[in-house]
Amino acid sequence: KKQLSLTDPSSVWVIANKQSPLSPIDYAPTDLVVPDVNIRANSSAEEKELRKVASQALEKMFEAAKKDGLPLIMASGYRSYSLQTSVYNRYVKTEGQASADSQSARPGYSEHQTGLAVDVGGANRVCEIQDCFANTKESKWIADNAHKFGYIIRYQKDTRAIVGYIYEPWHLRYVGEALAGELHDQNNPPLETFFDLPAAPDYKP
Ligand code: DAL
Ligand code: ZN
Repeated sequence: KKQLSLTDPSSVWVIANKQSPLSPIDYAPTDLVVPDVNIRANSSAEEKELRKVASQALEKMFEAAKKDGLPLIMASGYRSYSLQTSVYNRYVKTEGQASADSQSARPGYSEHQTGLAVDVGGANRVCEIQDCFANTKESKWIADNAHKFGYIIRYQKDTRAIVGYIYEPWHLRYVGEALAGELHDQNNPPLETFFDLPAAPDYKP
């Protein structure tokens, strides 16, 4: 549990949550690439990117899913501080601040800003980034297999009091195969629980 930094934003174990913003707050990774996978056409150029290590893992995962008859699509990967500002503000405007905070991170607090998080869906686009994605075969496949490629479902069912967000079966976070496998073996505790960190239900006042 002490092998890699939990605070360095370039560490694949970095913890970003409502209690721990990225430092620096406008951190941007330096090794972003566009994965060679099926990517949603109307995503912004930034969102089509991921850090190299996460990109390579995503390519392998998408290949495996396709082989199992469940092709996937990448919807949103890297989001800069500036893009996350627009995404979050759009939620605030349309749904109000409380609803926004239940599902979208404020700029500087999003895993998407690390280049290690990616929202995925089925290539058939059924229930894309919606609660009902949880009931799809693709979602089940991801829950059973993502760890083999170093990814975890970061915001699990009924963990909002710890992780700060509602269940997001589409939001995958790259942490490396060793940690992802360990978490899967332990029945998927949140990163906060596994690393004995404080729960992060809300922002600091
Ligand atoms: N949807 C996740 C919490 C984010 O905005 O980073
Ligand atoms: Zn996400």
